[in-house]
Amino acid sequence: MHDEILRALPAPSCAYVYDTAALRARAAMVRQALPGSASFLYAVKANGNPAVIAALASVCDGLEVASGGELSLAVAAGAKRIVFGGPGKTDAELAAAVAAGALINVESVHELRRLASLAPAPPSVCLRVNRPGGGLQGSHTMTGTPTPFGIEESQLALAMQVPGVDVIGFHLHAVSNNVDGVAHAAFVRDSLDWSVQTARELGFSLRVVNVGGGLGVDYLNTTSMDLSPLRDVIVPPGIDLVFEPGRFLAADAGVYAATVLDIKTTHGRTFAVLRGGTHHFRLPAAWGYSHPFTVVPVDTWPHPYPRPSVTDCLVDAVGELCTPRDVLTRGQHVESLRAGDILVFGRAGAYGWDISHHEFLRHDPPSFIIV
Ligand SMILES: Cc1ncc(COP(=O)(O)O)c(C=O)c1O
Repeated sequence: MHDEILRALPAPSCAYVYDTAALRARAAMVRQALPGSASFLYAVKANGNPAVIAALASVCDGLEVASGGELSLAVAAGAKRIVFGGPGKTDAELAAAVAAGALINVESVHELRRLASLAPAPPSVCLRVNRPGGGLQGSHTMTGTPTPFGIEESQLALAMQVPGVDVIGFHLHAVSNNVDGVAHAAFVRDSLDWSVQTARELGFSLRVVNVGGGLGVDYLNTTSMDLSPLRDVIVPPGIDLVFEPGRFLAADAGVYAATVLDIKTTHGRTFAVLRGGTHHFRLPAAWGYSHPFTVVPVDTWPHPYPRPSVTDCLVDAVGELCTPRDVLTRGQHVESLRAGDILVFGRAGAYGWDISHHEFLRHDPPSFIIV
């Protein structure tokens, strides 16, 4: 993908390429897979590049934000609808969210009281709940276990007593990176059942059930999660069932690419040292897996000295940082690899640049290319 664009960059190159057509196609795929009446909001935390947000704001039903900074980006992108979540909202962020007309997912009774006291009129809110049992497997489990996210079920009655807010629903984001569509559909059904029952018990009229994000991507494969089981979920009349996918929308629309600066073998392992690394693309190091790459061969070698190269070999793709943890891939087989070639890491459009520690060692940032 985009080989010519990468070869045309000044060497040594280092770039993220984000493909807006791929973003829109992915959003169309998600819409097709969800129950007809459901809404889906792009979770900006996956990739806050303004061009990515703009592309997805135009095709999704809105945007989910988790900070004042993301809120500003969502407003600038002209989001049709904004939902604001996150466990540590400041008063200034809450006030900005109210002013922007965002629906706020409230994470504690204390936050609910703060919101009620600063909003000029009772704002509509969803209560984020940490239910017993999240019901989903994935990379980060956020409910059914001790986490800072959401209100425990036993405190919901107390939350309902806070005056000056209008509770209209629940927010039940449970997990990151679940790749099992059948399990996800079961989670959504269970979330709807629980919400209908609990709203009845608490005595309010349920309008929103937000099941969050968590649709997964298998980085070790090229296949996509099968979303089709979601289509059969029956949504009770009058309820807006909301999804907030981030990773699933953005991952496949981005690649991270970096030139091989050096190739060397020490103590029996061969390393391809890149003009880049985990300070740009931290996901593999953060999650402890090897992110697969493809090689874009660059035949030009304008230098008088020999070109480092290997053939039929296992290589570790490592970065330019002074730490042995700066590893993107361990032991991937290459037919041929030379200094000057470009490694391309696919599925890097979500939680790539946005979760990385950019300033460590102060190397130049990558280029950002939007196609
Ligand atoms: C509240 C909330 N919504 C949505 C998302 C997006 O999740 P994902 O990118 O896994 O779809 C997250 C991610 O952490 C989240 O915390």
